[in-house]
Amino acid sequence: MIKLNSNIKELNSYLQAKNWLNSGETILSVEKPGEGNMNFTLRIRTDKRSFIIKQSRDYVEKYPQVAAPTERVLREAEFYALIENVSNLKQMMPKLIGLDQENSVMLMDDLGPGSDYSFLYKKGEFISEEALFTVIDFIANLHNSITTDTTTKKIVNQKMRELNHEHIFKYPYLKENGINLNDILPGLQAQANLLKQDEKLKEEVLKLGKLYLEDGNILLHGDYFPGSWLKTTSGIKIIDPEFCFFGFAEFEIGVTIAHLKMADQPEKLIEKALNHYKKSCSLDDRLCEKFVAIEIIRRIIGLAQLPLQIGLQKRIMLLKEAQHVLIK
Ligand SMILES: Nc1ncnc2c1ncn2[C@@H]1O[C@H](COP(=O)(O)OP(=O)(O)OP(=O)(O)O)[C@@H](O)[C@H]1O
Ligand SMILES: [Mg+2]
Repeated sequence: MIKLNSNIKELNSYLQAKNWLNSGETILSVEKPGEGNMNFTLRIRTDKRSFIIKQSRDYVEKYPQVAAPTERVLREAEFYALIENVSNLKQMMPKLIGLDQENSVMLMDDLGPGSDYSFLYKKGEFISEEALFTVIDFIANLHNSITTDTTTKKIVNQKMRELNHEHIFKYPYLKENGINLNDILPGLQAQANLLKQDEKLKEEVLKLGKLYLEDGNILLHGDYFPGSWLKTTSGIKIIDPEFCFFGFAEFEIGVTIAHLKMADQPEKLIEKALNHYKKSCSLDDRLCEKFVAIEIIRRIIGLAQLPLQIGLQKRIMLLKEAQHVLIK
């Protein structure tokens, strides 16, 4: 497997060998396009255009000691192929320019320098109703457009689902998992320990984990949180469907709602977003609520921490709420 790096000369020969550069096209510069943990991602500017190259490797880019499914970028490419004929989805995502299956490299067009919506976790930052409805419309369109009724192709993405399963449903509940939560926020560990002792809660988590691993009928983005929403000069774009699979809407929407809550967005707005989704899609509210709880727990006491700014009291309140939802 060729391991890409940001050396312009080496990138040049790789791209030329793949026939991905036009004749006479030269690379002017390369840069990191934004924050990312999982993959090797670069923006390449040439004298003609600018594009993004993304390589997935058998480890997590930011934490090389952590193994990850090598071919995950191919699943992302499959997602783009599936939405190819749905114009309102396609126009909100990058276009696939090239794919090197052998080396798990994908080329896509550059949506332009912009930031993702992770700034929402900052104090006093709020998403507008219009922007949130755009984000919700995209996911509702996806859930309505690509289903086992509309396509015979199926993305299983088993290995990524297993990786996620570990992090969402197992890791946070282990007594010893190597995370010292008091390093993140003093006082958090004690609250986490209470959750870890709740046998009824853990039983429910086990059930929901099994459900996550079951195949469903609709194509999910799989990681629908502010980090996958890009704010660009041509509007909101959606990126990074590497965790996509055919599953249940309740998981997807549960994750989204959980993040809006952790980003301390107004309850009324969150409710509106949920109702907006339900205007065109069906949703089992009780099940969705449970996945909200699951995502909140795993982000507050698990390994994949967010740049949260909510304080200890708010985090404890969210954890207690989640616990209540899971055991009631
Ligand atoms: N097509 C694109 N156009 C413009 N910017 C992009 C594009 N794709 C990715 N980016 C930028 O690069 C960042 C990292 O990309 P991406 O999220 O796909 O990588 P990742 O390694 O899968 O990240 P994560 O660890 O968050 O899953 C994005 O947050 C975004 O800022
Ligand atoms: Mg990613």
